Amino acid sequence: MGVEIEVNNLTKSFGKQLIWGGVTLTIPAGEISVMLGPSGTGKSVFLKALIGLLKPDEGEIIIEGVDIASCSEKQLYEIRKLFGVLFQDGAMFGSMNLYDNVAFPLREHTKKSESDIKRIVMEKMDMVGLIGAEDKLPGEISGGMRKRAGLARALVLDPEILLIDEPDSGLDPVRTAFINQLFVDLNAQIDATFLIVTHDINTARTVPDNIGLLYHKHLAMFGPREMLLSSEEPVVRQFLNAQTVGPIGMSEEKDANDLEAEKDMDMPPLPPIPMQLEPSNGVPRRSQRPPGGWCRDNGVTPPPGSFQENMSMATKL
Ligand SMILES: Nc1ncnc2c1ncn2[C@@H]1O[C@H](COP(=O)(O)OP(=O)(O)O)[C@@H](O)[C@H]1O
Ligand SMILES: [Mg+2]
Repeated sequence: MGVEIEVNNLTKSFGKQLIWGGVTLTIPAGEISVMLGPSGTGKSVFLKALIGLLKPDEGEIIIEGVDIASCSEKQLYEIRKLFGVLFQDGAMFGSMNLYDNVAFPLREHTKKSESDIKRIVMEKMDMVGLIGAEDKLPGEISGGMRKRAGLARALVLDPEILLIDEPDSGLDPVRTAFINQLFVDLNAQIDATFLIVTHDINTARTVPDNIGLLYHKHLAMFGPREMLLSSEEPVVRQFLNAQTVGPIGMSEEKDANDLEAEKDMDMPPLPPIPMQLEPSNGVPRRSQRPPGGWCRDNGVTPPPGSFQENMSMATKL
């Protein structure tokens, strides 16, 4: 079913460097959420805080009634069993073949027999499309396959929450499209709560139910995809639509002169909101909302041309 993650006023610094502060959001159970943000804004730090690998300075992270920012090591150990994590580089053991890499969490954390382990490993390898590659070493396969193997490993303990760090880094657009489809299909199959961190705008526009944007040491916005994709808020609007006019510059922030000069410029029109990626079997996910539903419920007129089927990649961005 997936569980909800409630984050209240979370703040994290390293020494004197504030990474982000006052982050408050609720990641809904069973839905797919994407956290977007320029490189270096602390997206990976955010994921690590959610699983208790990094302690925040302030704030709460509440999962099944437990605040993992302040709970005991023992409670944290239990809560961690709810998570599957796919780190940015896949974090595979280089000297183990894919089978043993995927089997690793089962051998570490359960007392299952090797025949049960084999059944589970092969089931997860099948879910990510890696049947036949069990004997390969991580160094012998492509980056895309390594990510799939990391995903199979993240799935072996049947997680309620799946955290995925930059699945598209280092992948070409076609492989990115395949792995995005795989996330949507997996979410339909296992109903876990997905949080995907990325700076890929096309992924953010088409995959999730909810979008968040970390920018300039705070959470600029978090909410249903249609809310952000129709937002006029300058940072959200510029980032999600990859526009050059707005408060974000080449070096993250523009200087005051540039901003002053742009103040009276017209923002380019908002591009249409694309259809959300659907499971490949055509059966909607449990958490999927009808296209345009949020806009209708909130009296927002979506940009012209939104929610048309068969939009070409070019108009999707
Ligand atoms: N363990 C750490 N100690 C000190 N600084 C860190 C640590 N981890 C990350 N940082 C710093 O936190 C900032 C955000 O990093 P990160 O979360 O990796 O960004 P993103 O994933 O958004 O690209 C960076 O400036 C990075 O140098
Ligand atoms: Mg990162």
